Amino acid sequence: MEQRWIKEAYRNELPDDFHGGTRWQSPSNIALVKYWGKKGKQLPQNPSISFTLSQCRTETSVFYEKSDKFSLDFSFEGKPNEAFRAKIEQFLLEQREFFPFIDQLDLRIQSRNTFPHSSGIASSASSMSALVLCLLDIESAAKGTNAIDRTKASYFSRLASGSACRSVFPKMALWGTTPAMNDSSDDYAVSLENEIAPVFRDFRDSILIVSDAQKTVSSRAGHTLMDTNPYAASRYATAKQNVSLLLDALRTGDLETFIRITESEAMQLHALMMCSEPSFILMKPDTLKIIESLRSFRREMDIPVCFTLDAGPNVHILYPAQYAEMVERFIMDELETYCTGGLWIADGVGDGASRL
Ligand code: PMV
Repeated sequence: MEQRWIKEAYRNELPDDFHGGTRWQSPSNIALVKYWGKKGKQLPQNPSISFTLSQCRTETSVFYEKSDKFSLDFSFEGKPNEAFRAKIEQFLLEQREFFPFIDQLDLRIQSRNTFPHSSGIASSASSMSALVLCLLDIESAAKGTNAIDRTKASYFSRLASGSACRSVFPKMALWGTTPAMNDSSDDYAVSLENEIAPVFRDFRDSILIVSDAQKTVSSRAGHTLMDTNPYAASRYATAKQNVSLLLDALRTGDLETFIRITESEAMQLHALMMCSEPSFILMKPDTLKIIESLRSFRREMDIPVCFTLDAGPNVHILYPAQYAEMVERFIMDELETYCTGGLWIADGVGDGASRL
């Protein structure tokens, strides 16, 4: 793949009057089978599967102009942000082999998230994929085309932030090689849009914000902890198997298997952190209260609702759209009390990244 991008790279001097603007939105995604542990150049130890979200998005505008050297101005939600600027600069400069014209660009980037600023929701997947799509648009403008290759967008989003590679596709995506899916690859994600049963196409995700604090362990540090985790080998084998089982369930609309695998994956992610060295507990007491309450609600009402967790205390409640009213009532009556400031986000499966 790398060879192909190098071969296709735009290597000419940009025209003197080269300038313009591009704007993309890209959503966050929530993994069902988790990517936790990496190897090589940002490659996953096991395949993962995610829902692409709808409401939690980053919108990024890039204004570009030909210049005699690279320069970058970056603001987040209207204010300069040096930490993000440095991260973006490092990423862009590292990609010059594939996008040599970066050296001739003066860039002004403005970015904002549609979800609450301090919700504890990681935004690197949405922000880095939106940035990469803008970069591909600039390359297209230089080449005089208008087309965007989503596989290429996924490939470079992966280099920026692993799970970001899954955000560019509508509905659901799979990242990582598995015999259960043709064309799957460790290098980029593939769309599951045409693989899934209708019930999953508009699945809901109510995100309960238990804590809006910054993550106590960065995902970079978390992935590294897997290198010495005593259960790593068996975890990777289980995840590979879970991807096959979940894919079957997604294809056939088997909600029982979907629930079993999804909850088991969330628990495994946290169990892996608890038995890492050093060990981390990322759930809060209120996370457990929500999980217990949700499981009794499911038993009592006999409806297919379940949870997943990211690498933090917030709980994603997942359910088919037809149960939205019932589940939202339950959240307001029973679970809102465990949310910081009563905050939860009514999200669901979305249509992936798009040009604005
Ligand atoms: O993409 P990263 O490096 O931020 O890692 C993401 C890890 C999890 O969110 C915990 C799981 C996943 O597959 O998204």
